[in-house]
Amino acid sequence: GPFDLTIRNGRISNADKTFHADIGVRDGIIAAIGQGLPPGREDVDAAGLWVLPGGIDSHTHIEQLSGMGVMCADDFYSGTVAAAFGGTTTILSFCAQHREDRIPDVLADYAQRAKEKAVIDYGFHLILANPDEQALVHDLPRIIQGGITSLKVYMTYDRLKLDDYQLLDVLAVAGEYGAMVMVHAENHDMIRWVARRLLERGHTAPKYHTVAHDALAESEATHRAITLSRLVDVPVLIVHVAGEETVDIIRKAQQLGARVFAESCPQYLFLEAKDTDLPGLEGAKFCCSPPPGDKASQEAVWAGFKDGTLNVYSSDHAPYRYDASGKLPKGDATTFKEMANGVPGIELRLPLLFSEGVMKGRITIEEFVALTATNHARMYGLAPRKGTIAVGADADFALWDSTRKVHVTAAMLHDRVGYTPYEGRELNGWPVQVYSRGRCVVRNNELQVARGSGQFIARTRPEPMVDRKPSGKRGIFSGLVGLSSGPTEP
Ligand code: URP
Ligand code: ZN
Ligand code: ZN
Ligand code: ZN
Repeated sequence: GPFDLTIRNGRISNADKTFHADIGVRDGIIAAIGQGLPPGREDVDAAGLWVLPGGIDSHTHIEQLSGMGVMCADDFYSGTVAAAFGGTTTILSFCAQHREDRIPDVLADYAQRAKEKAVIDYGFHLILANPDEQALVHDLPRIIQGGITSLKVYMTYDRLKLDDYQLLDVLAVAGEYGAMVMVHAENHDMIRWVARRLLERGHTAPKYHTVAHDALAESEATHRAITLSRLVDVPVLIVHVAGEETVDIIRKAQQLGARVFAESCPQYLFLEAKDTDLPGLEGAKFCCSPPPGDKASQEAVWAGFKDGTLNVYSSDHAPYRYDASGKLPKGDATTFKEMANGVPGIELRLPLLFSEGVMKGRITIEEFVALTATNHARMYGLAPRKGTIAVGADADFALWDSTRKVHVTAAMLHDRVGYTPYEGRELNGWPVQVYSRGRCVVRNNELQVARGSGQFIARTRPEPMVDRKPSGKRGIFSGLVGLSSGPTEP
């Protein structure tokens, strides 16, 4: 029969190739890709446009209480609307356990809130703050089997940090049940030690955030996380990689055969430490952890994306307003240590990389697709359903007009942050129509779908966790799961 939707004459790019074809969609699924397909009930001429897989943003903080206790400004409605306007059709956001919380309660709470509000598809990673016996033996296996096949752990922040013993416990369970472990790698004591001395000397301005979070804190913790993952032979994914030395450490480990994966974000390609050096507390708008470095670290991140050291490009959208509800809990008296960490970027993630990467010839369109969609699907168990334009996959794609010029302002964006660190940038190219499961989500700069129309996606085993050839020692370690959670420090 006829298609629900036919997209004609577009230039389609996947991670492996680019070709001209029509796409026929039925019941939200891509039913055919070919030449001269029959008309659809909705028939779209995409001549002159790129048709790219909808972006997958695998690192977003939405309607979440941060490690420092600050609530995000975006809920599952505004967060997913902003994502969609920027060409993203799936997000993974965090269910954040705080140490006193029961994991099933945390999940139920996030699931309910997202279900009511999301306009595109979504999944969750669990932030695990308390890997006790209950979590390791009961909760984690259950939630992984329920489609939450990834978790994030922190090596810093007082309320979230795990010690090395706990990281090993988590890795062992993740290896056993098939979940990807994302690590926020920064050395807690190095940051704390430097920050205390800065504050004692009255150095409280936002620019000292970047001094306190020295690149060595990131590279040391990254090396340690990788070493722990190698000990138990369980893959690990280092999130928000910023520094040159960190990229080198990851590359070296990969060359040794370690199954280490890594993410970086727009802020490490397009912002610099010196952006935080502004009058008053303005610099807070550019503060995230780890902090952006300099031109050399930007080049190292580009090189890491080019040679495959870095696999996924996510936003780490951390939507905090520039006021007492977010970035500045103590108003004008807020020190760098009290600011909420993180910058917004869910809507501009793809347009920034398209403009500065693809249009300027730094990366190919196929690399763009891999970094923004396909690799996320592979790393987090969304493939083959999402991340590639293929028969049988969800009809998630965006039509990009490479001739569209956009002058970035906070006012044009759909998040609730109120500022953007990319204010005033001139971008080339924009996703002008966005489809999720065959539904037109954005057209003519208007949202076309209702609140709550996005779906929870129960994810399968991440690709690095499938097909594993466990080393001899893995067998030994896996037998200890459940017995290994000895007493840990509070
Ligand atoms: O500064 C950042 N990245 N804040 C968001 C929380 C996190 O650790 O990803
Ligand atoms: Zn983090
Ligand atoms: Zn984050
Ligand atoms: Zn302009």
